[in-house]
Amino acid sequence: MIVTTDALFKIAYGKYALGAYNINNVEQTMGLFRGCIESQAPFIIQLSKGARKYSDKRMIEAVIRAAEEIFPEAIFAVHLDHGDEETCYDCIDSGFYSSVMIDASHHSFEENVAITKRVVERAHAKGISVEAELGMLGGVEEDIAVDEGNACLTNPDEAIEFIKQSGCDSLAAAIGTSHGAYKFKGQQSLHFEVIEQIREKIAALGRPPTPIVMHGSSSVPKDEVLRINAAGGTLDPTACGVNEDEYLPAAKLGVTKINIDTDGRLVWTRVHREFFRDNPGQFDFRPPGKTFMDEYAKFIAHKNQKLGSAGQLEAVRAALAK
Ligand code: 13P
Repeated sequence: MIVTTDALFKIAYGKYALGAYNINNVEQTMGLFRGCIESQAPFIIQLSKGARKYSDKRMIEAVIRAAEEIFPEAIFAVHLDHGDEETCYDCIDSGFYSSVMIDASHHSFEENVAITKRVVERAHAKGISVEAELGMLGGVEEDIAVDEGNACLTNPDEAIEFIKQSGCDSLAAAIGTSHGAYKFKGQQSLHFEVIEQIREKIAALGRPPTPIVMHGSSSVPKDEVLRINAAGGTLDPTACGVNEDEYLPAAKLGVTKINIDTDGRLVWTRVHREFFRDNPGQFDFRPPGKTFMDEYAKFIAHKNQKLGSAGQLEAVRAALAK
């Protein structure tokens, strides 16, 4: 069942985080739904601009509609990840999306507010909520590349001003993460002090809290990178992402949507590299595709455990029925 992002946020806020998983094809979609049913978790399925262009937006949207039929017990929202203004309007007008993200974080504060406000007006008229971004994450994601020198943590005072002025429903804040497989070198932790300050200032507004969204949340497991490299890959073995044990403490502070893409790509790469290394005479894509669906389902169930969303499905169903 597709529900509004807003409804899921209200139920989860301060208790656990919803996994927001980027999807591009049938195999990922099947693995995602299976993993969420196995772990009894509500979730957010998100499509980036690139995912909508990869085959055709109607193709991936139809795959999601089919999954909704195949897994009638699933409860999820459909979200546009990192939209520009034009793509946001396309998704809002399509009537299919629960929420959109307008990413105008590379503009000045004033421009970011003005663009976000326009999207909020169009979205709210159709009952769709809007995620906006303030502060810039490092790393590379599709056509967005920010070098570490230009990445900056979100300023909590600015965050509150931005929420007030733009009317956004959730805020993607830069809290120490970066996109992609080449994240931190060595040891690094989330900036809990920034999350805490934003949360306190949001609470002081005296209205329903604005959830914080964490981008760049993959953990880039070392064993996954080493297995990929042992099967012919050349990924940087020193890369390391977010410690999964920090998801839940962040969720308790209001980080209600945690975006995960890279770790799922690593599962795909590991499965396919190992399969073709071990079966050099094979040319059928279905055997590794099946293994990938199983492995992706396991991966999703594991992430949902770490996010605290595992086991919440029936409570969400009951809350939605009220
Ligand atoms: P990762 O690259 O860490 O998976 O982050 C994905 C993301 O933030 C999508 O918006």
